[in-house]
Amino acid sequence: MKLVLASRNPGKLRELKALLEPLDIEVVSLEEYPGIPEVVEDGLTFTENAVKKARAVAAATGQVALADDSGLEVDYLNGAPGVFSARFAGEDRDDRANNEKLLHLLAGVPWEKRTARFRCVVAVAFPGGAVYTAEGVCEGMIADEPRGEKGFGYDPLFFVPAFGKTFAQLEPAEKNKISHRAKALRKARKILSEFLC
Ligand code: IMP
Repeated sequence: MKLVLASRNPGKLRELKALLEPLDIEVVSLEEYPGIPEVVEDGLTFTENAVKKARAVAAATGQVALADDSGLEVDYLNGAPGVFSARFAGEDRDDRANNEKLLHLLAGVPWEKRTARFRCVVAVAFPGGAVYTAEGVCEGMIADEPRGEKGFGYDPLFFVPAFGKTFAQLEPAEKNKISHRAKALRKARKILSEFLC
């Protein structure tokens, strides 16, 4: 079985490939299908966007497709940036600008009010039309300055109290044990392994 990852984000692809390694399947990314147009992520929920992406890629490639939609929910901002995480500071998906905007909006906000979580929904779509979803959440706090060089997106600002580190200070293998994407992927792996038998 071949699985097409419906993403072009190199940071995400790296993590997804590592998380799918235990499955004995060929995992490829959209790089192998350059003709497939970008799916517009206009859903109001992570589930809507993940399902839309996975369905579009399964239909266009004729292969099983896996898409994730994820983002950061900050309690002080009533759940923003949420589904708009990638474009928080503008359309060009600029991680540094997104982090600066988040720090600016939380300037002066005390530590105990800086609670946040990453949420991830993974959708697995089959060419015949069936779609399955799985969700994962990772709780943390928004740091008052960026720390660490690893990871991508909001990782330098996402502090995990149990580790005393931001996601960007964790080794990729450590992040891949506790992250929202890891939790959703573990559930999705179960769905996929049932279809491998
Ligand atoms: P999308 O799922 O590609 O629409 O974008 C999700 C956005 O949420 C990313 O561009 C990041 O800004 C943010 N995000 C999702 N997961 C992570 C993560 O594991 N670390 C840091 N940022 C993340």
